[in-house]
Amino acid sequence: MPDTTKHLLLVEDEAPLRQAIAEQLSDRGYHVEQAESGEAAIARLADFAFDIIITDLRLPGVDGSAVIEAAVARYPDIIAIVVTGYGTVKDAVEAIKRGASDFVSKPFQIDELLHVLGSALEQRRLKSENAYLRSQLEERYRFEGVVGKSRPMARLFQLLETVAPTNSTILITGETGTGKEVVARAIHLNGPRRMHRFVALNCSAIPETLLEAELFGHVRGAFTGAVGNRQGRLEQAHKGTVFLDEVGTMSSALQMKLLRVLQEREFERVGDSHTTKVDVRVIAATNSDLARMVAEGQFREDLFYRLNVIPVHLPPLRERKEDIPLLVQHFLAILRNGAPTSLTVSQEAMRRLMSFSWPGNVRQLENAVERAVALSAGRTQIDVGDLPTEVQKAQETALTTAVTLPEDGLDLDAFIADIERDLIQRSLERTGGNKGKAARLLNLKRTTLVEKLKRLSPQE
Ligand SMILES: Nc1ncnc2c1ncn2[C@@H]1O[C@H](COP(=O)(O)OP(=O)(O)OP(=O)(O)O)[C@@H](O)[C@H]1O
Ligand SMILES: [Mg+2]
Repeated sequence: MPDTTKHLLLVEDEAPLRQAIAEQLSDRGYHVEQAESGEAAIARLADFAFDIIITDLRLPGVDGSAVIEAAVARYPDIIAIVVTGYGTVKDAVEAIKRGASDFVSKPFQIDELLHVLGSALEQRRLKSENAYLRSQLEERYRFEGVVGKSRPMARLFQLLETVAPTNSTILITGETGTGKEVVARAIHLNGPRRMHRFVALNCSAIPETLLEAELFGHVRGAFTGAVGNRQGRLEQAHKGTVFLDEVGTMSSALQMKLLRVLQEREFERVGDSHTTKVDVRVIAATNSDLARMVAEGQFREDLFYRLNVIPVHLPPLRERKEDIPLLVQHFLAILRNGAPTSLTVSQEAMRRLMSFSWPGNVRQLENAVERAVALSAGRTQIDVGDLPTEVQKAQETALTTAVTLPEDGLDLDAFIADIERDLIQRSLERTGGNKGKAARLLNLKRTTLVEKLKRLSPQE
């Protein structure tokens, strides 16, 4: 019996036969409508999206394969089954070419039809499940290069989705290596300015004296060595996005000039009396606490508010450990660079990777994976010995350390999910992977355990 009512259109010109099949299918829970001709069927299909169409091939007027063709053209997902006369396999093949899922030959037992119908339904279910999984994958990579499926990352994606299409200034905060630059690029690539440039400037990497010229450009003779006119990063980013990394390190004079850019979208090149106008979106990033710097008088308050129109905070990796396996796969795929051999990570190594606190966050993890790939050359699996010493020494602490409430709080759901996953993992290990026994250890129904496994699995 179908689980949800399936709407079925039955096309057959012989009324008694049609009536008989319709009754049998109705008894099996299908919602059946009947059409006595190809024309009638096509007309009915135009205003109702049937799940299934079963049609006789030989019909007066418009024949069955034309009906199939029309049905599939309109509804590519429809299940179309043809009923052929005895010995007309050639016609059946023709109908399948036109999009029919399967056929039954007259005379047939109702069970035969039900069987064909059942397997077609199953096939379609698998197909849509695949499509669903694919869309899940795409969802995860919705923001180019930003990998993550944890709660904090899901929230981040949601926020990015709302802010990317706007022109608002964004301030991205987060510890080193949490992905501030990847996120800034992703915002740019998902917004209306994607056709224009994304220009990054790391304010802490350039000596203060050169930073102004780098940002605003200069005119010839503005200072010693300024041999020609030169565009600054802001002008280079015209119509696009400028990414100001480590804004916290700017001098107060420069902070003032940046404020003017944010308010008026204008500035002067160094040494120029002429005002330049630009159309840029500004995304800034910092790993220092700008609010505190404001309180301590090291950062202009007005600039802070101008920059902080939309704050985007990137959580440290230790607060989203369930993303670690995903990130590891991501980096392995990048390192493999299309090569067919796939390197795996032993469960023990993965546990250490997930137990380590990663002060250098994703960048540090990326480096560790790269190193492990090099060390594991010639093997098919990365093992504990391939990990950096400090990671090897990481204890499996999920259950013990985190039971204290961290200073800045925690994500309860993610935390509980961690613990659940950990316990399920352990019970599976203890029972050699036997889900029934593992479920009993946890006083769960087997189906509940399987369900939880699916939900908690960080990979898929
Ligand atoms: N969510 C993520 N998915 C995939 N890769 C990531 C992610 N976050 C960071 N990375 C990778 O980690 C590395 C560090 O990221 P990024 O340079 O954006 O960090 P950052 O926050 O700007 O660090 P810093 O403050 O040190 O400049 C990059 O190689 C980046 O590709
Ligand atoms: Mg950075």
